[in-house]
Amino acid sequence: HHTLRHNATADVRDDGLEPPVIAALTGKRPDTAALTHALARLHTAGVDVDWAALLGSGGRAPRTVALPTYAFQHQRFWPAPASAPPASGGEGHDPAEARLWQAVEALDVEALTHTLQLDDGEAVDTLRPALPILASWRRRHREQAALDSWRYRIDWRALPEAGAAAPTGTWLLLVPAGHDGAPAVRTAVRALREHGAEARIRTVEAAGADRGLLARLCAPEAGEAAPDGVISLLALDESPLPGLPAVAAGLAATAAAVQALADAGGDGPLWCLTQHAVAVSPGDPAPSPVQAQTWGLGRVAALEHPRLWGGLVDLPASPDHRTPARLAALLATGRTQEREDQVAIRASGTLARRLRAAPPPRTDREPWRPEGTTLITGGTGELGSRVARYLAGHGAPHLLLTSRSGPEAPGAAALARELTELGTTVTITACDVSDRTALQHLLETIPAQHPLTTVIHAAGTADTTP
Ligand SMILES: NC(=O)c1ccc[n+]([C@@H]2O[C@H](COP(=O)([O-])OP(=O)(O)OC[C@H]3O[C@@H](n4cnc5c(N)ncnc54)[C@H](OP(=O)(O)O)[C@@H]3O)[C@@H](O)[C@H]2O)c1
Repeated sequence: HHTLRHNATADVRDDGLEPPVIAALTGKRPDTAALTHALARLHTAGVDVDWAALLGSGGRAPRTVALPTYAFQHQRFWPAPASAPPASGGEGHDPAEARLWQAVEALDVEALTHTLQLDDGEAVDTLRPALPILASWRRRHREQAALDSWRYRIDWRALPEAGAAAPTGTWLLLVPAGHDGAPAVRTAVRALREHGAEARIRTVEAAGADRGLLARLCAPEAGEAAPDGVISLLALDESPLPGLPAVAAGLAATAAAVQALADAGGDGPLWCLTQHAVAVSPGDPAPSPVQAQTWGLGRVAALEHPRLWGGLVDLPASPDHRTPARLAALLATGRTQEREDQVAIRASGTLARRLRAAPPPRTDREPWRPEGTTLITGGTGELGSRVARYLAGHGAPHLLLTSRSGPEAPGAAALARELTELGTTVTITACDVSDRTALQHLLETIPAQHPLTTVIHAAGTADTTP
């Protein structure tokens, strides 16, 4: 009983032992609930409770049901009322206001009269014609508020300055040939060797590095133990890949390294280092487009090979004497769930990438109006044609739509008619966007009275097979 509980606790504590002491009857809740609660508390304290005696057995026996695996995977299993007002915009918090707008949106004069407590028929009549206008404003506002709530931006959060944590064991460093003396490579070597770990350097001819070659380079040699981690500096090689000059050799070699390590069992952790792939503050220069590609690749590798993946670390253009310790602290976080896996090291410290809700754009600006020629690659496709319709509806003087099939694309003629009716001049041309000469020729044919001002690149084919 609860009145005895304190004494019991005191007696037991004199013995130096602290078994659970739980009141079965509290006087504060009905006996059945109190007793069940007490049994549940005993159960959570590790006491073996005979649940069958309490809950029954046979047909009445309780079943074990699956619970969601992750606490953060919130999923509702009950229906939401269809007309629930959105929480955004403030009005959702005030039930009276919500009722008012519901009545307006439903053009429900009776409900509105009641909400506004109008008993004067004349006043009601003056409201009536305003209702459709208010309802339409309300719908537009709701849609805009929903769209605004989907806006996000990338933000960089400063991490606390590194403590004494340091990587241990032997790390494999994949270094592109000719870059051994590069500041980023020296920084990575110092991050290991000056903090108690060993660096096993493998030089990689990035231009010829395929999955097989990297598998051989990453495999421990006779007498060597498997490494405790891998650091790829391959992204530093920005030379064009022979035969595919649009791709940097270092990027291709990084992809091959991910494949090779995954083939070998994918124990990692693999950390990919870049230099200046991201801009973390307004003062940071624009990021290098070639380095940024390794971040794109890395984020996908992280999803496809979570066991292998360590993270992406962007080093400053000029690493300083604090950079190795900051890198060492990141490598020391190993494969823990809590580790930051998209990080930039700068002179000011270490920053981690975050996705944050972005404020809606200012609405007092003049809306953008397309001028001159707008080139839409893939203009006859699904996305391209939608953008074309939108721009034609917003007064674009000339739309140049391209795809490989051009005017032969299904629906091209109807699309051209529709856009012309919206008041725009339309040209649909066949042009393969991956053919540089053809694209250059296309740009040269743009009429002088409608110079090119905007390019919407919507050409592409989706290939979702790995
Ligand atoms: N629809 C979506 O919801 C969505 C979402 C995210 C991303 N995307 C991506 O956005 C792109 C467009 O999607 P979509 O749904 O509009 O696809 P779509 O309907 O197949 O349209 C693609 C257009 O691109 C053209 N095209 C393809 N390769 C081209 C090339 N080398 N040169 C010039 N034109 C080329 C195609 O025409 P031809 O074949 O005649 O050249 C077609 O007009 C795709 O890359 C897709 O993966 C789409």
